[in-house]
Amino acid sequence: MISVGILTVSDKGSQGKRADISGDTIKEMVCRLPASVVKYAIVPDEKDVIGARLMEWADGGGVDIILTTGGTGLAERDVTPEATLAVIEKAVPGIAEAMRAKSLEKTPLAMLSRMVAGVRGKCLIVNLPGSPKAVRECLEVVLPALPHAVDIIKGRVTEHPETSGLHNRSG
Ligand code: MTE
Repeated sequence: MISVGILTVSDKGSQGKRADISGDTIKEMVCRLPASVVKYAIVPDEKDVIGARLMEWADGGGVDIILTTGGTGLAERDVTPEATLAVIEKAVPGIAEAMRAKSLEKTPLAMLSRMVAGVRGKCLIVNLPGSPKAVRECLEVVLPALPHAVDIIKGRVTEHPETSGLHNRSG
C-alpha cells in the first residue's frame, strides 16, 4: 500500500472560495494503485508555505508520494515548481517530461506547465497542473510507474525483470 499526500496549491482554495475538485480527482485516481491518502492540505501560492509543508510531510516518514496540484503556470504567483526544487535532493525530470509529452498530444497549452518532480529522503514529490482536466491527463501518464518508483526509493528493488509488463509496454 502506497501512502500518498495531496497538496493543493491555490490562493482561492486556501481561503475556502473554491471547491478542490483537482484534489478530489487525485484522490479518486490514486486509489486505483493500491494507495491510500494519508495527508491532505490546501495551501496558498506562497513558496515558503508550500516548501514547509513538503518538508514536513517528506521528513515525517509516513508519506511515500506527495502529489501537488496547481501553481505550475506562468502567473506571478505560480511558484510550486520553485518551492519543489528548493526542497528536493534529486530531480526526476523524466516524470514531468512524460506528462508534458503525452499532454501535448491533447493540447498545446500543456507546454505552459512548468511542473517538476524529485525525491526528498524516501519521498517522491510530483507536481501536477491545477485544472481537474490537466490532473487527469497528467496523472494517468505517471500512475503506472509510481509503485516501481516507490519500491526503488525505499530500496526494495535490486533487479529489474525484463519481462514484466511495466518494462515492456509495447509487448
Ligand atoms: N496539461 C494537460 N494535460 N491538460 C491541460 O489542459 N493545461 C495547461 C497546462 N497543462 C493543461 C495542461 C495550462 S492552460 C496551464 S496554464 C498550465 O498547465 C499550468 O497550470 P497551473 O498554473 O494551474 O498549474
